[in-house]
Amino acid sequence: MIAPSILSADFSRLGEEIEAVAGTGDTRADWVHVDVMDAHFVPNLTLGLPVVQSLLKHTDLPLDCHLMIEDPDRWAIGYAEAGAYNVTVHVEAARDPVKIAKDLRAAGAKAGLSIKPDTPLEDHLDTLKHYDTLLVMSVEPGFGGQSFIARVLDKVRTARRLVDTGHLNVVVEIDGGINADTIEQAAEAGVDCFVAGSAVYGAGDPGQAVAALREQAARAGAAH
Ligand code: DX5
Ligand code: ZN
Repeated sequence: MIAPSILSADFSRLGEEIEAVAGTGDTRADWVHVDVMDAHFVPNLTLGLPVVQSLLKHTDLPLDCHLMIEDPDRWAIGYAEAGAYNVTVHVEAARDPVKIAKDLRAAGAKAGLSIKPDTPLEDHLDTLKHYDTLLVMSVEPGFGGQSFIARVLDKVRTARRLVDTGHLNVVVEIDGGINADTIEQAAEAGVDCFVAGSAVYGAGDPGQAVAALREQAARAGAAH
């Protein structure tokens, strides 16, 4: 699956920018990744619930809300209640991640847990049993257009093995620095869903970029 990140889109035209990846066939995104930043958990500020509510009215693509915020215990539920398809919180920010997952699911959303590049996966395996999505950060969260950190692929391989052996039941998603040069190694490591910001919205035709990335990932994943 390909999830274009609108962090790299034109914020004055977000509706149209989502339409650019909402066509039919190969050029259609699977999810639209929405980066919510609060200038506290990360040193950047983007958008919040009112913008997400407007986007939900504008598109039928599933919204994948990545909350890079403090106190997700308080704020995550609103995104689920608004109708986001998947709501991801950071384990480094959550006080009671199991309760968050239960609340998100009760509100009808998928629950996602994200880990920063230096956060070990092993410490959170019991928590992940309550989650639907594992978002492995392959850059330090905060900004688009950073370089891919390949060492996080060890965590992807571990997660892939745990899913394939029935010990975990999560979609393995990766976020940060995914482009034509890096997507194959991520696919080989076992990623299910690829977030791509600058590689999609920096391209002349975002829909074509989605199609090209998906094909590249499928080939690399199948060969492995
Ligand atoms: C970074 C965000 C990413 C970002 C990825 O903190 O979580 O979703 O948009 O951008 P690229 O694909 O340009 O690295
Ligand atoms: Zn993100």
